Amino acid sequence: MVSSSLFSAALFSALAAAQKCNLQFDGRLPKDLVAADLDVTNDFFDPNNVLGKGLKVSQVSRILPAGAGGLFDEGVEAQPVEVLISDASIFNDQVGFRRSELLPASNDGSDPSTQGVKTVHFSVKKDNVRLLNLTHEYQLFFLESQDFSTNQVVLKTGTILGQNTPDPDTLQLFGNVNDNPPQLLFSTKFLPDTFNNFALTLDFDKLTTQVFFSTGLDPLKQVTDVLKNDVSGQGQFHFGVLKKGLNGVGDITKNGEQEAGINEGIAYGGIFEEDSADGCISLSP
Ligand SMILES: *[C@@H]1O[C@H](CO)[C@@H](O)[C@H](O)[C@H]1NC(C)=O
Repeated sequence: MVSSSLFSAALFSALAAAQKCNLQFDGRLPKDLVAADLDVTNDFFDPNNVLGKGLKVSQVSRILPAGAGGLFDEGVEAQPVEVLISDASIFNDQVGFRRSELLPASNDGSDPSTQGVKTVHFSVKKDNVRLLNLTHEYQLFFLESQDFSTNQVVLKTGTILGQNTPDPDTLQLFGNVNDNPPQLLFSTKFLPDTFNNFALTLDFDKLTTQVFFSTGLDPLKQVTDVLKNDVSGQGQFHFGVLKKGLNGVGDITKNGEQEAGINEGIAYGGIFEEDSADGCISLSP
């Protein structure tokens, strides 16, 4: 691989799309993997978190066929994975939430995935037979700080608690939720029948976030400038479905109404993180 520092900025941006960057973690599932492989220690995701009490990863995920993947799955024949929630998806007595999330295996809260400059990639797709209930707020991706005091970046959909949501069928990416109000970094209609591809360049030294987005197999496009956003505090990346209850007061992890009979899911593809310290960002495979 040729170092990007050899090139001028203009030339670099032209080449960025074709560049292979060094990977920090890779959650793309090889085509021979089965869901039960995720129940034991593996190279991809933590087998123990975040799950409803007594549940295994294989009980809250469906491996989807290779070839049905997103932008960064096709070339490596990766299998996307759907993350599911049900009435049993109660983690740690958080009865106000239903949640199932995949955490990268190497991301222990203080590892290099939240140091330097990194670009985290993921793609999300609706399941038309396990649709979310957009009366509720959902978190589909977030970075939670090591001390659990904030989410430095979070992708939400549905009706956001405590604010006006003109169209709940929207993907809304917020910055640090301790800001008042949190900064809306980017939003876009949550298109069905296709993967919605995100890449976020997180500068953990300069405390900024830049967003790239596309749908289907289209190359990512820059959709924001480099935005000030406090991404300090390290922590863990969560990919999955966290459904918040309605009318909760006080500690909403414990309070909030959840109707019974939940059968909902979101498909994930192309989960990986690359090192962008030298400006390397993959806009296409
Ligand atoms: C959506 O959620 C609301 C509030 O929990 C509930 O009243 C409604 O029945 C749900 N709709 C569907 C289609 O499940």
